[in-house]
Amino acid sequence: MRILVTGGAGYIGSHTCILLVEAGYDIVVFDNFCNASKESILRVDKIVGKTIPLIEGDIRNKEDLTRAFEAYAIDAVIHFAGLKAVGESVEKPLAYYDNNIYGTLILCEVMAAHGCKSIVFSSSATVYGDPHSTPITEDFPLSATNPYGRSKLFIEEMLRDLYVSDSEWQIILLRYFNPIGAHESGTIGEDPNGIPNNLLPFIAQTAIGTRACLSVFGDDYDTVDGTGVRDYIHVMDLADGHVKALDKMHTFSEVMTINLGTGKGYSVLEVLKAFERTSGKNVPYVIAPRRTGDIASCFADPSYAQKILQWRAKRGIEEMCKDSWRWQSSNPNGYKC
Ligand code: NAD
Ligand code: WQD
Repeated sequence: MRILVTGGAGYIGSHTCILLVEAGYDIVVFDNFCNASKESILRVDKIVGKTIPLIEGDIRNKEDLTRAFEAYAIDAVIHFAGLKAVGESVEKPLAYYDNNIYGTLILCEVMAAHGCKSIVFSSSATVYGDPHSTPITEDFPLSATNPYGRSKLFIEEMLRDLYVSDSEWQIILLRYFNPIGAHESGTIGEDPNGIPNNLLPFIAQTAIGTRACLSVFGDDYDTVDGTGVRDYIHVMDLADGHVKALDKMHTFSEVMTINLGTGKGYSVLEVLKAFERTSGKNVPYVIAPRRTGDIASCFADPSYAQKILQWRAKRGIEEMCKDSWRWQSSNPNGYKC
């Protein structure tokens, strides 16, 4: 079975490619490298011991996608490609609607034109907005507080409408919580452009000395120690969720919406301490004002994924931090030499 992996050179995509190949899937990566490096795929090639076919192209470009579908008999798509920075989406909403929504629309058109109607889509816990309680189940009310989140919400709706119009579509919406960590080899990992927005890359860059000090955004939330609580999930567990979703796809007769999280929340300070323990590094921090748009606490109820995919996250916070540090310390500049 041949899988097209859009955004396969990116953080989650590159890790998922490894498990797809190990599970026996043939894959082809499709990426425009707007937020990734070809080096990530070369390193994945080394890990899996074969050359993964790669098409450089943009999901908004019909010709690029058609090239992929004409070169390979593609049975299903895992659709990671998209822009993902919340703050940037507020500054450049049209870029997010164009890339994420329009790009997905074109992808679906080209898929349908080639008789490929199976897609796994990267959604996000951001579609729960500010949840009324935790843990969060898939039937919680949906909302968005920024253009990035709205693009995910709209794509989910678009894919549901597509299924209503044609039940031959097989659609799985995976709502990720907070992916961190890296492949155990330490050769691939998250390589953000510029100053990291997300917690773990910021902690790792502070530990290595690229950043002077972590700002902890708020210590007056109603949480265990006042700092924000999130459901951090190891990227390899997340990758495994995609393989399980593909394996089960043919057994579903509706659009499946599935949380991928661990079910356990950790505060910023708990993550910081876990990172210090596993890396042996001291990470200086200061308490800073709350970040606009942040919520106090967000963690999944992952029991539906367990029931429907027989999937659960296996790696704990220490392993996540250890693997993030192995990647960061062996690649202080990410993929840049
Ligand atoms: P990433 O930026 O590392 O990967 C996205 C990849 O898509 C990159 O390789 C980029 O070059 C590519 N891409 C972007 N626009 C493209 C286009 N128009 N055509 C072709 N390729 C394009 O991000 P990631 O962290 O791996 O996230 C993957 C997906 O998961 C995204 O859709 C993201 O919104 C979603 N997601 C991520 C997180 C997270 O915290 N990392 C959480 C929830 C959901
Ligand atoms: C985690 C916690 C911060 C940085 C974002 C997106 C979400 C999803 C995942 C894609 C919070 C605190 C952070 C720092 C800090 N992406 N923090 N200092 O905000 O849960 O989610 O990434 O779908 O859509 O919004 O993740 O890693 O940015 O923050 O104190 O320098 O760490 O306040 O409590 P978040 P994050």
